[in-house]
Formats: sequence, structure tokens, C-alpha cells
Amino acid sequence: MIIPFHYPRLPLGFLLLITLFLVSLLTLPTVEARIRHYKWEVKYEYKSQDCYKKLVITINGKTPGPSIIAQQGDTVVVELKNSLLTENVAIHWHGIRQIGTPWSDGTEGVTQCPILPGETHTYKYVVDKPGTYLYHAHYGMQRAAGLYGSIRVSVPDGVAVPFSYDYDRSIILTDLYHNSTYEQATGLSSKPFVWVGEPQSLLIQGRGRYNCSLLSSSSLEAGLCNTTNPECSPYFITVVPGKTYRLRISSLTSLSALNFEIEGHNMTVVETDGHYVEPFVIKNLNIYSGETYSVLVKADQDSSRNYWAAVNVISRKPQTPTGLAIFNYYPNHPRRSPTTTPPTGSLWNDSDYLLAQSLAIKARQGYIEPPPLTSDRVITFLNTQNQIDGYRKWAVNNVSFTLPNTPYLIALKQNWTHVFDQSSPPENYDSANYDIYSTPKNFNATSSNAIYRLKFNSTVDVILQNGNTMIDNNSETHPWHLHGHDFWVLSYGKGKFDSVNDPKKYNLVNPIKKNTVPLHSYGWTALRFRANNPGVWAFHCHIEPHFYMGMGVVFEEGVEKVGKLPTSIMGCGETKSLIRP
Ligand code: C2O
Ligand code: CU
Repeated sequence: MIIPFHYPRLPLGFLLLITLFLVSLLTLPTVEARIRHYKWEVKYEYKSQDCYKKLVITINGKTPGPSIIAQQGDTVVVELKNSLLTENVAIHWHGIRQIGTPWSDGTEGVTQCPILPGETHTYKYVVDKPGTYLYHAHYGMQRAAGLYGSIRVSVPDGVAVPFSYDYDRSIILTDLYHNSTYEQATGLSSKPFVWVGEPQSLLIQGRGRYNCSLLSSSSLEAGLCNTTNPECSPYFITVVPGKTYRLRISSLTSLSALNFEIEGHNMTVVETDGHYVEPFVIKNLNIYSGETYSVLVKADQDSSRNYWAAVNVISRKPQTPTGLAIFNYYPNHPRRSPTTTPPTGSLWNDSDYLLAQSLAIKARQGYIEPPPLTSDRVITFLNTQNQIDGYRKWAVNNVSFTLPNTPYLIALKQNWTHVFDQSSPPENYDSANYDIYSTPKNFNATSSNAIYRLKFNSTVDVILQNGNTMIDNNSETHPWHLHGHDFWVLSYGKGKFDSVNDPKKYNLVNPIKKNTVPLHSYGWTALRFRANNPGVWAFHCHIEPHFYMGMGVVFEEGVEKVGKLPTSIMGCGETKSLIRP
């Protein structure tokens, strides 16, 4: 049977309107933001990233996980399924400020409850600024198990970046331990204390090479380590002679500070943590966990051969072999190893060199966001180790930070004053009398989950002050990362910060903005930020075992301005009552 179909009779004027509308859709520039939708499954898998077979956490079968590629203004939606069987998870979007969505920051204990095994959680946020960012697990020491990846946000259509290049590549640097994060965490929280030690391998984009012959023959027979496994063949960057490459180098090491160098090639630093840098040329790049850099590299060397790209440990005495990738000139075979000796980077303990490179990073002319010239509050953080009941801890102003069972964001919105310590943590240490070069004798430090409440829209200075660890004549480098903000880096210095004279040397003209900054050994770093993002934000050392052992703080600002919290972040601690009344 044929059903007759009649076109509805529309008035001519209406048809004309529709036509005009359709034409306008075709001619208007497409500036409206898109939704970038990702479906991820997180699980444990065996991988041989450095030829040694071990359990790692993957996303959709990969570590590093899939890259998030978006444009400024886009909304990123990640539907995350936790298939870890017996382990919780949370993912932090490192460098994304989460303006208006503080519940999507992904910091377990601060902005959300952990995602339980078998559950799916949706993160949704806007990427409001172009640049190079990261994501990684933010639960326990889970990041070190391989749960991380990169976020690349491009400029809007019609906006140009202030430098030119032909190709864009993202490279994540990490360090790898053969034991599990649980073994590490257990050792760290034991009496006597068991330090994690130096990593077995350095990985470039998830690939490294362990010297399997160091293992016993029984583990070799068991197939635990195999240098012919394709999973550990070196990462290669193929370059076309004459072309310029934007390499987005980032570090998510668990412990190590790194030096990145491409044999025979200089690099021009142009971006860091989503801010344009006044270009400067370097032979090698010092990079600390949580930092991102864009460098421009021109493939302008003899193209008949390949070159090494190398990472080496700095600021701790290296006990880990150089991590290697191949800088492959097309059309040479990408797996053809150079016959030259790989770069060994800068001297690991050349503190003047490390400091000089940090000081060289300035905001790019034309893109300078000048900082407020004064601040409303100065908070000084002494970075040390100490001891509590015989347990080794890392601490800030002699307080070792612990996370509460009920996330701060929810507790503060609910006005629950009983779920965390309501006192004000210390604004300073005994700076007049404390000798930063002496080994701390504080065997009776405290732990606390108290937080710093900042006046909304106020300007806050943070002075990071380094000191000696529990080992004589030893001071570590701590990369500090702030959630929810970018801060101005006002200055770095050696020794003890002088609160009268050092502020006179602040760079208030063209300081770079960043979200992660190193605190050099026996030195200080001065930062400034505006407390203008309603929410609760972690600020911590990005070294996984240091934060795990208490080297962090939490800031709150304008929490009363935060919108209604999604119930998807609840389910733990006191918040159970909110979803199962
Ligand atoms: Cu990339 Cu709180 O960390
Ligand atoms: Cu640290």
C-alpha cells in the first residue's frame, strides 16, 4: 500500500527565513565551542615499558593514556570507568583551572570522593586557555603506576601563536620503579622507614630500557625481562630535514628532576604551563615533575644519520641510566640507533646552572600579564623532613599534611566543622632562629588536615623556603604545583629568604605565570597569585612520595560562591548521608 505524502504548504516568507538562516550558518565563522567526548576504561595490565614486565595502570590499554586534544573554549567530557577490581581512582587535570567546576579537579580527599571499582564517573570542564597540560591519577601514589597522559589545547580559530613551526609533538617524561606503588607506600609508612630509592629506568613517552642482565637468571628464564620485546623499543621522533618542530615536553616523574637534550640540536623555549615565554635558546632543558615546556627544534643537522634524545637525572646523585629516544631524520630508519655517545646532560649538582635556567624564564613581550604590585598576605612554607612517633615525614612549617576522609569541598559547602581540623595552620616558621643548613632535630612534629582560608580576590604571596633533610648536608629539590590557578614567579634565591631585601628584587615587570615551579636545594622561591577561583585547591610538592608523606597544603577561597555540587563526587566519609538519606 502506498501512503500518499504531501509537502506541507508553507508561506513564502517563512521559507525565505529558513533559507536565510541556513545560509547564515554556512557563512558565519565557526567559533562556537565543541564538546570533546572521551570514554576511558582504567585497568591493570602487564606491560614491559623498559623491557621488565610489571603491572601498570592503563587507560584503554595504553600508558601514557590517550591524549586530550582540544581547542580553547571547548568542553572536555571524560567518562571514566574504573575497572581496577580492588582499587579506587581519581584523575586530576593538571594545569586546567576548573573555573566554575571546582568539583571536577579530580583530587581525592580535596574535591571529590574516590571512584570505586566498577563505577563510572564523568568529569566535565572547560579548557579555557591554550597550552600544554597534563592529566594523572590523584589518589594515593597511583600516578606512579602509569595513570597519566597529556592535554593539548590549541588557540581559537583566527588567533595565531607568536612563533612558527611545522609540526607539533607531545612527549611525556617519567621515571619507572619495578616494585609496585603499594610496596613503596608500605615502606614509606613503616618503622623503620624504607625509602623508595632511585628509579630503575627513565621513560620517554612510556618507553625505556632496563639492563636485563642485572637480574638473576631465574627471573630471566621466567621471561620477566626481555630486551627484544617490541614494547620497549625506543620511542622515536621522526623529523623532516629543514622543518621546525614544536616539542611539548612535560614531566610526570615520581621522584626525579630531569635534563632533556637532543644531541647536536639547540632548543628555543617558547611556552611553559600554558604561558608564552620570551624565547631563549638552550642546549638542554631542566624539567621538574609537573612542569610542561614547548621548545622549538629545527631539523637542520646532517640528515644522513639519526640523533639521540636523552634524559638524565639532575639534582639527585644519578643512579638511573640515561633514558633514550631516537631523533630520526627522515628517511633514515627510525630504529637505527646513532653510533655516537648519548648526551649526559648538565652536571647533576650544578646548582648555579639549575638556578640560572629557572631565572631565565620570563613572560613573552606582548603577552605579559603584570602581577599586582603588592600582596595582602605572605605565607612562608619551610620545606623539611621530620619525625612523628618515630615515623619519617615530609613537612611544611613542621606540619605534615594528611587528607581527611570527607573531601574539603563537600565539608565546607555543608558547613561540617567536625570532619577536619578547623584551626589555622602556621603562616611561617621560626625564620629568625632556624638554621636551614642544619639537620632538623624535630622528632616531635605534628600532622594535621587543617587548611589555609584565603580572602576571596585577595593577593597572596607564597615564599617556599628550602632546608636540610634528615640527612646531614642534604637538601632536596621540590617542584610545587598549585591547583586551580597560575601564579606569578617573582623570584628565586639561594639560602634563607630575607623578607626585607629580597622582595625588592622581585620581578614585577615580566614574571612568567606557571602552575608548577621548582624550589631549589637550600634556596627559596617566591610566588604571587590571586585567590579568585572559588573552590578548594591543593598546593603540594609534585614528588609522589613527598606528597604522600605530607608535603602539601590546601587553600580555600570563595567556597560560598561554588554552585551546587554534583552527587557524583560524593559517597565517602560523611558525604554518604547526602546521597543515601
Ligand atoms: Cu599534578 Cu596535585 O598534581
Ligand atoms: Cu618534594
